[in-house]
Amino acid sequence: MSILITNIKELLQVHDTNVTIVKGINMKTLPVLHNAYLLIENDTIVEFGPMEFCAYPDVEKVIDARGKVVLPGWCDSHTHLVYAEDRIDDFVGRINGLSYEEIAKKGGGILNSANKLAQKSEDELYEAALKRLNKLLKLGTGVIEIKSGYGLTVESELKILRVIQRLKKETQAFVKVSFLGAHAIPEKFKNKSSEYVDLIINEMLPQVYEEQLAHYIDVFCEKGYFSLEVTDRILTAAAAYNLQPKIHVNQFNAFGGVALAVKHKALSVDHLEQLTDADIKVLQGSNTMPVALPQCSFFLGIPYTNARAIIDAGLPLAIASDYNPGSSPSGNMNLVLSLACIKMKLTPEEAINAATINGAYALGLSSMYGSITRGKKANIIITKPISGYQQLPYAFGENLIDKTIINGIIH
Ligand code: NIG
Ligand code: FE
Repeated sequence: MSILITNIKELLQVHDTNVTIVKGINMKTLPVLHNAYLLIENDTIVEFGPMEFCAYPDVEKVIDARGKVVLPGWCDSHTHLVYAEDRIDDFVGRINGLSYEEIAKKGGGILNSANKLAQKSEDELYEAALKRLNKLLKLGTGVIEIKSGYGLTVESELKILRVIQRLKKETQAFVKVSFLGAHAIPEKFKNKSSEYVDLIINEMLPQVYEEQLAHYIDVFCEKGYFSLEVTDRILTAAAAYNLQPKIHVNQFNAFGGVALAVKHKALSVDHLEQLTDADIKVLQGSNTMPVALPQCSFFLGIPYTNARAIIDAGLPLAIASDYNPGSSPSGNMNLVLSLACIKMKLTPEEAINAATINGAYALGLSSMYGSITRGKKANIIITKPISGYQQLPYAFGENLIDKTIINGIIH
């Protein structure tokens, strides 16, 4: 089907050439076309330009976007949206003064999610995750990464990855998958964690590869979870199966995880609430995308990633939702955008670059997604009538999206 969007007040992120990343000072630039049109054929952007050159009498559907802003759909490069249940007890515990670490020690946290997930069937997990994902399509997310990591046994990790494969087939969103068997040490392996690492390397990884269940390898590289040494072992093993790293680093402690990830040619390093000058230096010599997760900082009450230091050092930055039941129970990228501006001091232009083109880069998809470019996929957000694109981060908590087009389908 062909869709023509006319009278667009502001068409954002327009690029004639296929940009794949925006870095440093360039993140302040967001190319905008005023009073524009956009033509989509099936799932592809075929043309755009000023309204005065719009002449397509034969299109099947016309959407009048008078007063509205049109932009590429959000590219959410970090989620854990396959999970069994919410973690309300952790939430209340934190309100009453417990820390994330204390809650985990008391039997909450990731291990609690894993116990609950073990009791759910693949179908139950699938139905719940599909509901979450469908909500996100209406909130503008058209490209998404989903991780395993609430399984922590061979059986349950594969169960999550198979659920993600079903989601991939069912949804119009483009899904990339990360294998996060190394998310926490299960209770059973408490004093013999190296045996769990052996299980990941010798049993989980070969099966993930055999069934082609993941694109990326993830590890929660953190004190009390997976050390540098162990992370190194896992990433080395995963490389033999062509799984590139996208890893959790520096959430609570900075101890060299960023350098290790860069050594393994990680596509992204995610969290970075703790960040050293050495981390920034090592990123400057790499193709690795730093990813900030401001909803996690908001929800846990931990520091925000020093996004200004990252961008001011000439680096790129992506922002993502970290949608998960423990540290960020929302996949709403519109809120991520607001938090990036309000709490991390990104300009609206920087935040939109971080949530579109750089998010797509952090998924290896930026030649297909993340900008309004001829030939790229038609993932599009059409807002309600608004004063201008700056209102998207400004009016936090309000849904300013009128409709979305995901993979050429209107939602
Ligand atoms: O990205 N930090 C590790 N993983 C998740 C949280 C997982 C959980 O608490 O369930 C995160 O914040
Ligand atoms: Fe995460």
